[in-house]
Amino acid sequence: MNNLTSTEPFYITTPIYYVNDKPHIGSAYTTLMCDTIARFYRLQGRPVYFLTGTDEHGQKVQKAAEKAGMEPQKFVDEVSKSFRELVDVMQVTNDVFIRTTQERHYAAAKALWNKLLENGYIYLGHYEGWYSVRDEAFYDEKELVNGKAPTGADVEWMKEESYFFKLSAFQEPLLKWYEDHPQFIAPDSRRNEVLRFVEGGLQDLSISRTSFSWGVPVPGNDKHIMYVWLDALTNYITALGYPDENHDLYKQFWNHTTHVVGKDILRFHAVYWPAFLMAANLPLPQQIFAHGWWTNEGVKISKSLGNTIDPIELIETFGIDAVRYFLVREVPFGQDGDFSRQNLINRLNTDLANAYGNLVQRVLSFVNKNAGAAVPNHQPFSQEEQELLDSPLHVLAQINIMQTHKYAELVWTLIARGNQYMDSNKPWELKKTDEVKMNHCLYILCELIRKIAILTQPLAPIASGKILDQLAITGNKRQFCHLTETLKPNAPLPAPFGVFPRFQG
Ligand code: MSP
Repeated sequence: MNNLTSTEPFYITTPIYYVNDKPHIGSAYTTLMCDTIARFYRLQGRPVYFLTGTDEHGQKVQKAAEKAGMEPQKFVDEVSKSFRELVDVMQVTNDVFIRTTQERHYAAAKALWNKLLENGYIYLGHYEGWYSVRDEAFYDEKELVNGKAPTGADVEWMKEESYFFKLSAFQEPLLKWYEDHPQFIAPDSRRNEVLRFVEGGLQDLSISRTSFSWGVPVPGNDKHIMYVWLDALTNYITALGYPDENHDLYKQFWNHTTHVVGKDILRFHAVYWPAFLMAANLPLPQQIFAHGWWTNEGVKISKSLGNTIDPIELIETFGIDAVRYFLVREVPFGQDGDFSRQNLINRLNTDLANAYGNLVQRVLSFVNKNAGAAVPNHQPFSQEEQELLDSPLHVLAQINIMQTHKYAELVWTLIARGNQYMDSNKPWELKKTDEVKMNHCLYILCELIRKIAILTQPLAPIASGKILDQLAITGNKRQFCHLTETLKPNAPLPAPFGVFPRFQG
């Protein structure tokens, strides 16, 4: 695998976000990570379909609407808007923004329900047990910790008529699936957690509610609405045209699916969802990737502590490239991380302004002043220089983009090499002694910057675009396959300008 080009389709999804409250750093994080991965694959030329959206039903949302004194539909229309605005502000490249209150989603959720019923996996019974509205999840007595859900959420006793899904029938099929598809749940530590949970035994799952009404009505029994997770998970196939399994999107993308989710909702995606799909005779996704959680200056983020992080405020202060770069670079994807404003500022100053910005600015302004504002001419490359010019291709070839932080790390080693090359070749001295050599060395630096900027597009799209503009690289020459092409000497270059501001710590 050289990662340069591929024609394999790729479908990536964020979780769809609850609209009980405005967006927070968690929703921004998953969306930006998915966007980074989607951009990476598009640079290979892969057909990519990228979904995000909002989860608009359930008791939690209904209660939030009541608290706001609004009709649920009006309430969700408003809150969902703030999620779409965030996607715009973050310049996310999603292909679809799905809402579970859309007509087509009702049709898909009902069709899936009917399939499960037809195949004999749904029966009517009575549920009696603990439920957490905050988590929209059922808990066993033995899972409770000091009378609360293991997540710390309050639980209430629920007793009502309910339809059940025969989840218990899927313990063996799921365990077999995990065994046959070792990449199905990533990272490995999370996979083990799910294995332990399923090995512990699966009970049938209550999949309808009668005590409130904000949801998709159960086909043939309007007294019931569907459990919000059954409704919500279906969104991933609604967006591809389900129940029309001949829909172009469904046919092209469903067999190439990666769901990215936070670790707290892995169980729903890695246990319930594949069981629903198996029960409906539908193919399963390729991978469920669970990421970790952010704390704020070492403290768990919670509304009651008042320490939530507003992504819009961060973006207004630092810019979207900087926020994205920090989130990608600071924490290995999959692990928990701590958000600290000082670390953010340090990283932006060190990696973006001092390392990357400095390399680009000093090379391009030097070329502008001393090399006729055009791509300089070069001599034959030494072996070492050729190796330097090939190094971006080597970095790309090593990458599994799900290890996004590693990608950033490796690309920044190229930036360091560029700076070292400039420091040791000293074009400002060559200017006085050997202009031919000066031009040669500047050519190598321009070429290296071009390749680095192609690689940084998923990590800092706006700045990378500006750098490529300054090298007069047109929009159709920015794919990974163009890494094997070369800059043409004498091509005129526009006036350079800085792209990474410094911040006061
Ligand atoms: N609506 C469900 C998902 C349904 S998908 C079919 C849901 N929504 S949520 O809005 O509560 O959470 C969305 C995502 O935000 C989850 O993946 C969750 O892990 C993530 N995060 C919430 N707080 C977070 C942090 N502090 N840090 C990182 N991600 C966090 O669950």
